[in-house]
Amino acid sequence: MPVITNIEDLKRIYRRRAPKMFYDYAETGSWSEQTFHENSSDFSQIRLRQKVAVDMTNRSTKTQMIGQDVAMPVALAPVGLTGMQHADGEILAARAAEKFGVPFTLSTLSICSIEDVAENTSKPFWLQVYTLKDNDYMRRLIQRAKDAKCSAIVITLDLQLQGQRHKDLKNGLSAPPKPTVATALDLATKWRWGIGMLGTKRRFFGNVIGHVSGVENPASLMDWTSQAFDHSLDWDRVKEIMDMWGGKVILKGILDADDARKAAELGADAIIVSNHGGRQLDGCLSSIRMLPSILEAVGDKVEVHLDSGIRSGQDVLKAIAMGAKSTYIGRAFVYGLGAMGEAGVTKALEVIHMELDKTMALCGERDVHNLGRHNLMVPTDFEGEWV
Ligand code: GLV
Repeated sequence: MPVITNIEDLKRIYRRRAPKMFYDYAETGSWSEQTFHENSSDFSQIRLRQKVAVDMTNRSTKTQMIGQDVAMPVALAPVGLTGMQHADGEILAARAAEKFGVPFTLSTLSICSIEDVAENTSKPFWLQVYTLKDNDYMRRLIQRAKDAKCSAIVITLDLQLQGQRHKDLKNGLSAPPKPTVATALDLATKWRWGIGMLGTKRRFFGNVIGHVSGVENPASLMDWTSQAFDHSLDWDRVKEIMDMWGGKVILKGILDADDARKAAELGADAIIVSNHGGRQLDGCLSSIRMLPSILEAVGDKVEVHLDSGIRSGQDVLKAIAMGAKSTYIGRAFVYGLGAMGEAGVTKALEVIHMELDKTMALCGERDVHNLGRHNLMVPTDFEGEWV
């Protein structure tokens, strides 16, 4: 086994071990992938300010997200099809997160069901929900989250229809994969994955099959999103779902200051500044670039979290120093999962924690709460030149 020192190492192993179809699903953006790439490259435009001869003993990355203690300002983002990247993927990722002390968010489009994850973990997790036309399904989903003792829901607002990802169409993405010649040839080289899948019953969308009327076999993600998702979603409906739940709510997919104000007015506990990892509106600006204007609009009213583009502890530090309360990793933990199951997710979290902790020290800080713009050097045109 090669020595793993960073997230890229995990990605290389993941690529060798996971079926191409699922690797491509994770490692894509929509259309030209401009936003997907800029989410990461914009982080590298922000530079860190080195400080020396500062006491760096007793460092802490601990903080809180929506009142919950976390080991570092990083949660696992909801990622559809996680249980196709590795057998029982959602359960393994949730276990790694709970042992590490960070929140795990289960996607509605997971392979392992809410009940399955709850039975196989010991701490409450968060459930991500889409807003669907079928109100009975929505009610049941929310009730299932309550029964499973989820401690928050994350409502996704930016995927009422799916941004086109060329590779998914070309690969005929489905769960489980359809038996085509191309798939069979690929799977022949992915024996570890195959053995894992043969050993589990969890191979379909666990929160959907048997729970959605009129959609008995949503093997294709695209079919399901085009049939079942509510294109008429508005803020009143968001409020209705928040009320149905009645607990902590995080609104995901905010990239505009007015939308952020609206989310804060509705009483969300947190918002996630996000462009869905560049998978939805291609051509919009990166999350990190949009963060300052959103903080200016609502920074004192609601917790502001950020996802899209975080691949290292340095990226986490930059987002926090720019003013986000916390961040999410999606692809970075999927690389670990696809590479090595639960141990790989733990490794991804360890890598990011180590990078955050050491970088913080080299910036002359001992506590994540003290990070701020004084730690950064940001190009003067980073925030403002877009009209
Ligand atoms: C689902 O959220 C996706 O991005 O495919």
